[in-house]
Amino acid sequence: MSDMYPNSTIELLQRHRSVRRYQPTPLQREQIEAILTSAQMASSSSNIQAYSVIGVTEAETKKRLAQLAGNQAYVEQCPLFLVWCADVYRLREASLLQESEAFHINTECFITATVDAALAAQNAAVAAESLGLGICYIGGIRNNPREVSELLKLPELVYPVFGMCVGVPAHSPDKRPRFDTKAIYHEETYRHAGVREHIEHYDEVMERYYQNRSGGTKATNWSQGIAEKFSRPVRPHMRSFLEERGFRFT
Ligand SMILES: Cc1cc2nc3c(=O)[nH]c(=O)nc-3n(C[C@H](O)[C@H](O)[C@H](O)COP(=O)(O)O)c2cc1C
Repeated sequence: MSDMYPNSTIELLQRHRSVRRYQPTPLQREQIEAILTSAQMASSSSNIQAYSVIGVTEAETKKRLAQLAGNQAYVEQCPLFLVWCADVYRLREASLLQESEAFHINTECFITATVDAALAAQNAAVAAESLGLGICYIGGIRNNPREVSELLKLPELVYPVFGMCVGVPAHSPDKRPRFDTKAIYHEETYRHAGVREHIEHYDEVMERYYQNRSGGTKATNWSQGIAEKFSRPVRPHMRSFLEERGFRFT
């Protein structure tokens, strides 16, 4: 990480930590507006703006979403839970409005909508953090995407990509180390050499991080976590769920 060009945006970005404990203070309307209008200024593939976001503040709904996301208590605890959705439904409505004869849905369509949702969400995250709020992305809502879609009354061609807790932090977590920048940045072409060395080095860094965080009880590292995670298919229901919602992967 570079300290060569300090400015408030770069400092803010490099201060990021996921927040998993929140004060009950509700967000002010102006804060929510600032977060959403910042999200909307994210770049969008051909300006299709193929995403929607559902803001959930009702206790019962957050409680249900927390359960559906694998009992993640902070989903219930945070004052605002945003569900970022890829939205191809609005695109099809636009096409129908134009009385267009065909509307093609394929893998590219899925990618562009998902990327649009992610870019808008990350803008929202940075805007929230700039207001002194904390955030945590919640991919756990894809554990039970059918139930989440039903609860939020999502139409077809809309799917929940991830949730995001937003609120005033009630703890200040340690910064989670990242790979050396050299590991992820390749000059001109992909550098095949040194991939394992970078992983081994990062494993050492993460082992120390986990040990510190757990008071010495958690003896694991990054690649062990990855091997474990990918030793079985992650959320194998996603393809059939998306097809049920009208997405196609041709
Ligand atoms: C798409 C996405 C989904 C995530 N899902 C969860 C989640 O369900 N629960 C959780 O506690 N953290 C979740 N996270 C947070 C990551 O664990 C976290 O960003 C990562 O470990 C790096 O830590 P940091 O954000 O504190 O720097 C998610 C992050 C992303 C980008």
